[in-house]
Amino acid sequence: MKKVLVIGGGGREHAIVDALSRSPQVGKIYCAPGNAGISAQAECVAIKDTDVEGLKDFALANGIDLAVVGPEVALAAGVVDAFKNAGLRIFGPSKAAATIEASKDFAKQLMAKYDIPTAAFETFEDYDAALEYVKKGSFPVVLKYDGLAAGKGVVIPETLEEAEETLKDMLLDDKFGKGRVVVEEFLTGPEFSFMCFVDGKDVYPMTLSQDHKRAYEGDKGPNTGGMGAYSPVPIITDEDLEFSLEHVMKPTAAAMVAEGCPFTGVLYGGLMKTPQGPKVIEFNCRFGDPETEVVLPRLETDIYDIFSAVADNTPMPEIKWSEKVTMGFVMASKGYPGDYEKGYEIEIPHSITAPRHCGERSDVAIYHMGTSLKDGKYYTSGGRVLMVVGFGDNLQEAHDKALAAVESIKCENLFYRRDIGWRVL
Ligand code: AMP
Ligand code: GLY
Repeated sequence: MKKVLVIGGGGREHAIVDALSRSPQVGKIYCAPGNAGISAQAECVAIKDTDVEGLKDFALANGIDLAVVGPEVALAAGVVDAFKNAGLRIFGPSKAAATIEASKDFAKQLMAKYDIPTAAFETFEDYDAALEYVKKGSFPVVLKYDGLAAGKGVVIPETLEEAEETLKDMLLDDKFGKGRVVVEEFLTGPEFSFMCFVDGKDVYPMTLSQDHKRAYEGDKGPNTGGMGAYSPVPIITDEDLEFSLEHVMKPTAAAMVAEGCPFTGVLYGGLMKTPQGPKVIEFNCRFGDPETEVVLPRLETDIYDIFSAVADNTPMPEIKWSEKVTMGFVMASKGYPGDYEKGYEIEIPHSITAPRHCGERSDVAIYHMGTSLKDGKYYTSGGRVLMVVGFGDNLQEAHDKALAAVESIKCENLFYRRDIGWRVL
């Protein structure tokens, strides 16, 4: 029986642990650092996801057969390189390949060089030059901080005053950190998340999902890490999918090989179906959160075999998806994505406390994103706190089941969007 170490401690990692726990080959799962919900299915170990040496020493000392990395910060810290150098098996991209997410500018230059469809752009270090460029363009305009910002480094000003303010924050006051700004053309159309397993040159698509990035109903308010998701995405046609695979994901994997940093792991294409066809909004170097919580419950293939095929560069098994569909609601701390308080008790009805595979016993799975456990009670411990996923024969049914479960959860400091899936219901 295999021992697996999952690195990270959010809803995404909970869904990865849940998927691994369905593998008949996996006997023991550790999660570092994990969270209160994950501790019901894995042994949580108190090592930070960016403590590369600590993680490596743990894996060596405990005979870990395979490590799986969730968060981009761990990848950008070089955890994959360190594990491989120590002879350990690990699923995820190298630090060099993770730059496709860590630097917006790297991703944009790569797309420009290899003719991968994306919004027109320029990158700036200098405030005055950036402002000059913005003044010449139209509004809204898209301003992206060139570094990791947990989904919050993108601002879309409607007016020049707002743009000036944001450029000041990003370039003069370094409110996001010390970095450059990518100024981008504003595109329109529905977005979708296209995650693919990639083992260097070969690309194996996952089923599609759609996130809801804005904090409030009606797609209003600030950008967040994501407030809800569903899978599959009926408004994206087979043609769109084929185009995205052939003209975006495969050429990007090939470009990474050509650039000397082959990508292994999950390549996440954040795409928009514009009137001119699908274009790239962003790339991520890992599973999406909350997309993973609606995609992996639909996976019918043994995920340990998939991770192994990528980690070892051996043949990929056929990847199969359930006919059941999923929709999930994020419950977040009031104030998120800005400041929020922690430590509020959460009461979750017993009937929905454990995650379930699609079709198994329950119609609802609850993935913990930011919770802690004390004396048998759950408390909020993050901005995003729970992802509550419903399973159904259609998206309306999945929506209704998830929403009913969300409404049965009691906590005075949580909010959620009730309109998840509005584009398709
Ligand atoms: P990103 O972190 O690059 O995914 O951007 C966060 C969100 O900002 C995206 O999910 C989009 O909703 C929005 N966004 C980013 N770039 C553009 C663009 N060029 N045009 C319109 N919306 C965008
Ligand atoms: N949900 C978007 C992301 O994971 O980046």
